[in-house]
Amino acid sequence: MFGKKKQIPQIDKEQLELIQNAQSRIKQKKRLYVHFVIFLIGAVFIIIANTVLGIGTDITFFGKEWFFFVIVIWLFLFVYHLFNVFITHKFMGKAWEQQQLDKLVALQKTKINTLKTELIKEAPHIAESEVYNEKLNAKNSALTLIVAVGENDAIGKDNDLIWHLSDDLKRFKSLTNGHHIIMGRKTFESFPKPLPNRTHVVISRQVDYQVPDGVIVVNSLEEAIDISKTDSQPFVIGGGEIYKQAMSHVGKIELTRVHESFDADTFFSKIDESLWKVTNKTFHDKDEKHAHAFSFMTYERI
Ligand SMILES: NC(=O)c1ccc[n+]([C@@H]2O[C@H](COP(=O)([O-])OP(=O)(O)OC[C@H]3O[C@@H](n4cnc5c(N)ncnc54)[C@H](OP(=O)(O)O)[C@@H]3O)[C@@H](O)[C@H]2O)c1
Repeated sequence: MFGKKKQIPQIDKEQLELIQNAQSRIKQKKRLYVHFVIFLIGAVFIIIANTVLGIGTDITFFGKEWFFFVIVIWLFLFVYHLFNVFITHKFMGKAWEQQQLDKLVALQKTKINTLKTELIKEAPHIAESEVYNEKLNAKNSALTLIVAVGENDAIGKDNDLIWHLSDDLKRFKSLTNGHHIIMGRKTFESFPKPLPNRTHVVISRQVDYQVPDGVIVVNSLEEAIDISKTDSQPFVIGGGEIYKQAMSHVGKIELTRVHESFDADTFFSKIDESLWKVTNKTFHDKDEKHAHAFSFMTYERI
């Protein structure tokens, strides 16, 4: 009760396995050695039995005594035994093979789990860098969105504009002059005819949408952006559907805010103030040419 408890040395499971394996190896090698000795003695005995004692001297195959074939076959079996012990280790038995396989699988599983854990740790950083890259690409994008928006974000009704502001049209013309203008099929159809001195890129899902010569038809916004890459400043000019999809691709927004609310069926998405800053703003009051007051505003990515 008061004496020190005697420490019993503990051999862990792995060590025990190693010892058992070493013992099996020794047994195998011993068995191989015994096989070798028996083979030598057996071969000598067979030779003596035939040549000295004259057993089966009249039995020959292909002109050779029978003992020759017996020794060759036995030698082959011995070599096979040797091969299995030192090369394939087959003689360690099925249980040993299974054990080795299980160990390998367990090792791979551990490695996979470690990788998974590392990946889970890295995932937010990867996602962050993807978002960062996306933002960076958009920030550096030469693509500009141009739009006129009411106070309630209205942009159109019955596939037409809601207002007529001559200075806004002039600004649109001067900014887009000589450039690619990317638009949805409906906006394109709202024009009486293509605008002069601009490359029209019309987006439609229709496969055989017919357009006048010089107008380019594409099947996606990505394709439209790709085609316009030769241009130093291509513009996305609407309408509602295309604006929504293009928001994350554009680097600049040229917005005309019309200071009134309008009845409409097409609207512009709210501009996320945390992503955009106003870098230029010019106010125009209403006058004889302009029924509504408005402001030209340039937004750039933060
Ligand atoms: N206030 C402004 O500054 C301004 C500027 C432009 C337009 N607008 C107004 O906006 C309105 C039109 O806008 P909206 O939204 O109705 O139409 P929209 O964006 O001009 O065009 C929509 C069409 O574009 C095609 N499309 C859209 N996304 C696509 C995609 N991912 N891949 C392939 N094709 C795609 C489809 O054509 P298909 O049906 O042929 O497949 C779709 O029907 C009009 O009222 C117009 O006056 C206002």
